[in-house]
Amino acid sequence: MKSFIYISAILFTGVGVSCSSESDKKKDHSIDQVTIDYIQLGDSLANNAQNILLSNVAGAIQTGGFAHAVEFCNTQATFLTDSLSGETYRISRISEKNRNPSNAASVEELEILQSFDPDHPQTTIEADGKTIYYKAIKIGMPTCLKCHGTEESIDPEAARMIREKYPDDKATGYSEGDLRGAWKIVFNH
Ligand code: HEC
Repeated sequence: MKSFIYISAILFTGVGVSCSSESDKKKDHSIDQVTIDYIQLGDSLANNAQNILLSNVAGAIQTGGFAHAVEFCNTQATFLTDSLSGETYRISRISEKNRNPSNAASVEELEILQSFDPDHPQTTIEADGKTIYYKAIKIGMPTCLKCHGTEESIDPEAARMIREKYPDDKATGYSEGDLRGAWKIVFNH
């Protein structure tokens, strides 16, 4: 499992790095220009992380139901996003109504969350010499509501486990289509 994650991470880091075209290189041999499109690179890293996380959560639900999957997320979600991070970038998730205390959005990030454009649900900012990529995460399927929904839609066993593992949980009461948070990738240049 771990080696699969590393291999995916390595494969995906190649995407989004566009070198100067062949004809440019012929014109100037001395400059090896490499421009990184952080939106494109961030998209591929975030989509990869999302797919791996989702398939792991789906597997946990299948193995032991929603309460078991809450326990799985409790121990594995941050471990997974950390292990998908590379030497030059760190992947995490943030939310205005976070479940894991370490996923709380900062004051600046709350503004970013509020300003996502539905047509362009990703953005980058420059901070402390780093590029930080954010991409909106929506409640995109009914399954999310089993652990993030209202009293009517949440799975009762999952709700019990969430109270046990996350006494300060804020991440319930959502409906389909709501903004749940964002992927965050910090690139150290
Ligand atoms: C089996 C229950 C379960 C399901 C289903 C589930 N989540 Fe979560 N979710 C959790 C738990 C538990 C955490 C806290 C993980 C941690 O401790 O890092 C979490 C954390 C998150 C976070 C990180 C921010 C935070 O609040 O800590 C986001 C974003 C998120 N979930 C979105 C979704 C979306 C979107 C879906 C549907 C595709 C979904 N979740 C489905 C249980 C679930």
